Amino acid sequence: MNLLLYGAPGSGKGTQANMLRTHFGIPHIATGDMLRAEIQAGTALGRQAQPILAAGQYVSDEIMIGIVRHRLGKADCAPGFIMDGFPRTVPQAEALDDLMHELGKRFDRVIYLKVPVEELLHRLSGRLVCPTCQRTYPPQTTACAADGSALVQREDDKPEAVRPRIEIYLDKTVPVLDHYRHERLVSEIDGRGTIDEISSQVLAAVNGKHSSPLMGKSPAAGRAQGALPEKPGDGAKTKTA
Ligand code: AP5
Ligand code: MG
Repeated sequence: MNLLLYGAPGSGKGTQANMLRTHFGIPHIATGDMLRAEIQAGTALGRQAQPILAAGQYVSDEIMIGIVRHRLGKADCAPGFIMDGFPRTVPQAEALDDLMHELGKRFDRVIYLKVPVEELLHRLSGRLVCPTCQRTYPPQTTACAADGSALVQREDDKPEAVRPRIEIYLDKTVPVLDHYRHERLVSEIDGRGTIDEISSQVLAAVNGKHSSPLMGKSPAAGRAQGALPEKPGDGAKTKTA
């Protein structure tokens, strides 16, 4: 099972990836987590990446493609993986196509978590993360449920970095979705509602039962008008493509 989680900063990719990792027993490959681990370890890559992440900008395609190539070559990815945070640009998507082809793999589904900008800003301003295992938590959580570490705010969740992150997502990452829509791999899910409600919809989509989240149980279902502006003609309707 090879899955790709796609969505804006704060849309819930990491949260849903944790659920999928437990459910399917396959690794979660999160390029942001990998970069933050390099920063924490003080490696040359980490020193190079730190100011880029702090400013809400993207690390170069060349570096990111190299990181993902190395990671997907590891044995634990053989039964499948959950990709989160990559590809973020069209060149990254093209490189990933080549890499998947080389490895004899294909994506089973691309899950797009669609969340309005005001909700993204609200979530990111209050998000807490575990510095040890990188799990994310809502505001007011005190310690990591997995390892007990005291939670911290991510450097790029400070107000000055959040807007640039959303702007670069709209500019460079929104076009990536078309790449996968052409392959009819995308399940678009209204990312509002409780975490458990979204998880049910994600699992249904992965298991091929997902038709339209507007017909799902989320209390937010049907209120997609405030969702992120995208390309002309890409309305707020949610669908499987
Ligand atoms: P990355 O770590 O990938 O960050 P991101 O894409 O900005 O996404 P986030 O991790 O902020 O959000 P998420 O969707 O995982 O949401 P979460 O589940 O935490 O990348 C960081 C940086 O690294 C980039 O900006 C870039 O600089 C660099 N980088 C990484 N990959 C790169 C690449 N390929 N190319 C170039 N540069 C790259 O949820 C957010 C909050 O909401 C949490 O508090 C959570 O508890 C809460 N929440 C989740 N679901 C719900 C819900 N349904 N209802 C209410 N609250 C919820
Ligand atoms: Mg994340």
